Amino acid sequence: MSHTHHPSFATHPAPGVSPRRRLLIGAAAALAAASLGALPRRAAASTPVALPPLPYGESALAPVISANTIGFHYGKHHKGYVDNLNKLIAGTPMADQSLEQIVKASAGQADKTAIFNNAAQVWNHTFYWNSLKPGGGGEPPAALRERMVASFGSVDACKKELAAASMGQFGSGWAWLVRDGDKLKVVRTPNAETPLTGASKPLLTIDVWEHAYYLDYQNRRADYVAALLDKLVNWDFANQNWG
Ligand SMILES: [Fe+2]
Repeated sequence: MSHTHHPSFATHPAPGVSPRRRLLIGAAAALAAASLGALPRRAAASTPVALPPLPYGESALAPVISANTIGFHYGKHHKGYVDNLNKLIAGTPMADQSLEQIVKASAGQADKTAIFNNAAQVWNHTFYWNSLKPGGGGEPPAALRERMVASFGSVDACKKELAAASMGQFGSGWAWLVRDGDKLKVVRTPNAETPLTGASKPLLTIDVWEHAYYLDYQNRRADYVAALLDKLVNWDFANQNWG
């Protein structure tokens, strides 16, 4: 069990101080304590990490991703990470940090694994919802298309890399399109890991945790990824994230 130690205020005047002086010091200390008590506590002054609203309605991605899946994925899983994170950081200096700061500060810290897992999952999921849109897929904007051609040979080759990374991730994790210097790259991360903590810049992600697709596709991850890339992927979002 841990205890929080609060600094004590000047309640112990040095020996030899006159009684009147002691009274004044005591009154000043009481005033200081009262005014400190009137200030909001640090944790109460902090804004909890928020669950951002979905950028579309829960049924907007159907039939590729059903409202039922979104209801659990956003309403239970994503919200659960937000709630867990806020419990874990309440009353700590991290309660005053931005979500990105928390992810970066907790990455690789053995005593902050739970904070990292929940914070990174909050960030990754918000990024995932924005990586999708109703009526997505199709041709990427010209600038992104040119970069895909330069880095992979074609748009289709880029999509194949994303599908391969999605399938190559054993167990839970994420497939990502990232900016690596002047090039596009496809990478995958296990569990809550995120490129946000590394040198490359995330542009787009695909959630390949089973909770992302199991209600609609059961074990057919490849079908979920193929449908997502053809019909939901938000290339505009990826393009905007480049610069
Ligand atoms: Fe997820």
